[in-house]
Amino acid sequence: MKPRIVIIGASSGLGLKTAMAFAAKGWTVGMAARRLTPLQTVKNQYPQNVKIAEIDVTADDAPARLSRLIEAMGGMDILLNCAGVGWYNPTLDIGKEMTTVRTNTVGFTAMVDTAFNYFVSQRKPGHIAAITSVAGTRGIGVAAAYSATKQFQNCYLDALDQLSREYNLGISITDIRPGFIRTPLLDADTNYPGIMTVEHVLPMIISAIEKKKRVAYIDFRWKLLVAGWRLIPRWLWRRLKIKLKD
Ligand SMILES: NC(=O)c1ccc[n+]([C@@H]2O[C@H](COP(=O)([O-])OP(=O)(O)OC[C@H]3O[C@@H](n4cnc5c(N)ncnc54)[C@H](OP(=O)(O)O)[C@@H]3O)[C@@H](O)[C@H]2O)c1
Repeated sequence: MKPRIVIIGASSGLGLKTAMAFAAKGWTVGMAARRLTPLQTVKNQYPQNVKIAEIDVTADDAPARLSRLIEAMGGMDILLNCAGVGWYNPTLDIGKEMTTVRTNTVGFTAMVDTAFNYFVSQRKPGHIAAITSVAGTRGIGVAAAYSATKQFQNCYLDALDQLSREYNLGISITDIRPGFIRTPLLDADTNYPGIMTVEHVLPMIISAIEKKKRVAYIDFRWKLLVAGWRLIPRWLWRRLKIKLKD
């Protein structure tokens, strides 16, 4: 039987393209997001193997809605969390900061914990993957909530991996950490250094999931860059200028 994957944040960007790629391979794909229209378009293309659900990951009913989607799919083998928001926000717009915190920490936890508990209840191996970011490597002044919440996600996935091993649960964890990719998440009018296309990164995302990689940096240039970031002492890091706009 082909794998059954649920993708949260499947209405746009990386989640949408990953869902379409797995649906084309004949996998059973559960697509969830707040906007249903893009999900319905994919379902119309693959009516046999795509199920859709409206889920706002920050809402109280998000775990129940995810559980219902899993049931409608006849079970789940892989959860991929792509839902996320983030802004270039040097003025610390409080609305943007709080939305980022709620989506990328509260919503993220609701989704991965629901999946983890589902796999435990099934007493079968499972797989949780999430698209986090290289931004979680260090605190980034112009994207404070984004970098901090991505570090939360990196750390949370490390914790789930250890928990799975400690109790011999057989749940694999994959943390996918890309650099900049041209998707609707980014401002269309800003020049981002080292920006990649979705077409370039999609095969790497799919391979990281299929090979159950523990941590996958996308791509190798960003892997080298963040290795360098880690070596920068704090006194120097605070002096870095990461301004993208005037
Ligand atoms: N693009 C990049 O440069 C980049 C780099 C590194 C990591 N990432 C990460 O990759 C992931 C996907 O981002 P993307 O670039 O594909 O951006 P995107 O095109 O803006 O997609 C974001 C997805 O998240 C969903 N989402 C946002 N808030 C949600 C909520 N409250 N409940 C449910 N779904 C929600 C959106 O769906 P609805 O609005 O329909 O709900 C959409 O499907 C994010 O976690 C992002 O941080 C992106």
